[in-house]
Amino acid sequence: MVIFDEITRDILGCKKCELCRSRTNAVPGEGPIDAKAMFIGEGPGREEDIQGRPFVGPAGQLLEELLYSIGLSREDVFIGNIVKCRPPNNRVPTIEEVQSCIPYLYAQIAIIQPKIVCTLGNTPLNALVLPKLTIGSVHGKLLERDGFVFFPMYHPAAALYHGELKDVLENDFLKLKEVLNSGKINK
Ligand code: URA
Ligand code: SF4
Repeated sequence: MVIFDEITRDILGCKKCELCRSRTNAVPGEGPIDAKAMFIGEGPGREEDIQGRPFVGPAGQLLEELLYSIGLSREDVFIGNIVKCRPPNNRVPTIEEVQSCIPYLYAQIAIIQPKIVCTLGNTPLNALVLPKLTIGSVHGKLLERDGFVFFPMYHPAAALYHGELKDVLENDFLKLKEVLNSGKINK
């Protein structure tokens, strides 16, 4: 689709915020244009910056395993991030960086029209749903905003550092499977 390709092209050449100066590659995100589910992380890490693709490092490997556990592969869903360029040393993106970059994600969501947007960790939860929510209190719950359905989950990287969160994440993926199969959300 032409408009979608234009968004991707704009991201690849974007200089709207400071993060353009330290990136190797911008990471627009990838997946089918009619994906039913989108998975949105915080921003590219080291491996993503090198390859220009989202979730291709250790967190990405866990994300792929979790998708597989509910019968999906990464090719079935759209995978992207709040900021498209890597924050130095993987720091949390600033509010200004998020504000500069998020119109690209809104444009991607508007075209894809997913059934559900799965936010991974606090950054996408706060940027897309509500600034004050914390992942610990709302993970695994369906939330609605502006006509879109959100499903907050812990970030897979958090589960790599805190082993006890892996069970929580696995369980939330099972809930997601139920939601996707229930017909509660339609597309
Ligand atoms: N963490 C993220 O938030 N996004 C990626 O693309 C990779 C790791
Ligand atoms: Fe542009 Fe987003 Fe990269 Fe900033 S992070 S330079 S707004 S693509």
